[in-house]
Amino acid sequence: MKVVITGGAGFIGLRLARRILDIGKLHGPSGKLEPIGSVVLFDNVVPSERPADLDARAQFVAGEVFDRDTIFRIIDRPDIAVFHLASIVSGGAEQDFDLAMKVNLDGHLHVLEAMRRLGPKPRYVFSSSIATYGGAQVPKQVADPTRHTPQTTYGMTKSVGELLVNDYTRKGFIDGRSARLSTVIVRPGKPNKAASSFVSAVIREPLNGVDYELPVGWDTTMPVVGYRTVVDGIIALYELDSAKLGDDRAMNLPNISVTVAEMVASLKRVAAGRALGHISVKIDPFVAPIVAGWPAHVDASRAEGLGLPKDAGLDTIISAYMADYL
Ligand SMILES: NC(=O)c1ccc[n+]([C@@H]2O[C@H](COP(=O)([O-])OP(=O)(O)OC[C@H]3O[C@@H](n4cnc5c(N)ncnc54)[C@H](O)[C@@H]3O)[C@@H](O)[C@H]2O)c1
Repeated sequence: MKVVITGGAGFIGLRLARRILDIGKLHGPSGKLEPIGSVVLFDNVVPSERPADLDARAQFVAGEVFDRDTIFRIIDRPDIAVFHLASIVSGGAEQDFDLAMKVNLDGHLHVLEAMRRLGPKPRYVFSSSIATYGGAQVPKQVADPTRHTPQTTYGMTKSVGELLVNDYTRKGFIDGRSARLSTVIVRPGKPNKAASSFVSAVIREPLNGVDYELPVGWDTTMPVVGYRTVVDGIIALYELDSAKLGDDRAMNLPNISVTVAEMVASLKRVAAGRALGHISVKIDPFVAPIVAGWPAHVDASRAEGLGLPKDAGLDTIISAYMADYL
């Protein structure tokens, strides 16, 4: 079977590819477990050097997700699994509305149409976001049935994406699922344009011995998930029996809600004895209002009831990052 991961060179995409290759098989449209023959990592920015530890079954393909012909060329056979992660992320979408529409909506439609024409209802996971929630009316705790009133273009495109996945599934074109993700930490390397990138940076930069200025206040509460858990959650969602999913194919993935102060306390606990960079607060007028519009607590009881994994706590997430990257 072939696996296509759009956004495959990104933070989650590359980890997802490695994990799928480790597992070695997934349920295909046949309904049976099938060995993975190849994994296409599709992205408009592919690494100049192939990661040394990447299995030979993985292949990078460079291209734009809004290029319909390219998408139809890579999603090209019935025994396929598709994970759609390519996206303009929150800060980037606020800065460039037209690009966000092109990548997040046109691109998504091309992916869906490419699968539709194949026939046998491929299983599909779309990476959505809790940025689908927002606005003055949003309760402090949101749940799967909470109405979406996104206050960013990014959140709007993710909400529309979930509706598309539900309807393409209802029509019998695909067997789709949408994973509504909280902020995934700890992102290594450089920050991306997501307004939430401070959540990783406040852990990563001090660990690198670099001083860090927080763009939001200490009491800001964020629902977060560790990258190992999110990858396992996306795969578990893909593997769920379609009959268990009903008519709403989107769900909040398990997460934990933490304040920035709790993140820093956990960091100091886990990295005790290490020289950490200094952390201070300087409210960013672009980032802070976007973050203020997001929910602080995200109920994921449906996903938890279906057996999707949940992090044990912040200390475990930070320890995993230190083991993987330091
Ligand atoms: N990381 C998080 O905290 C988080 C939270 C909620 C949702 N998500 C969603 O999960 C997915 C993956 O997130 P990530 O953290 O790995 O982000 P990322 O930015 O690391 O990866 C996204 C990838 O999409 C690629 N991309 C962008 N435009 C493209 C285009 N025109 N054509 C092809 N590829 C393109 C980028 O080059 C990038 O490699 C995204 O859809 C994101 O919206 C992430």
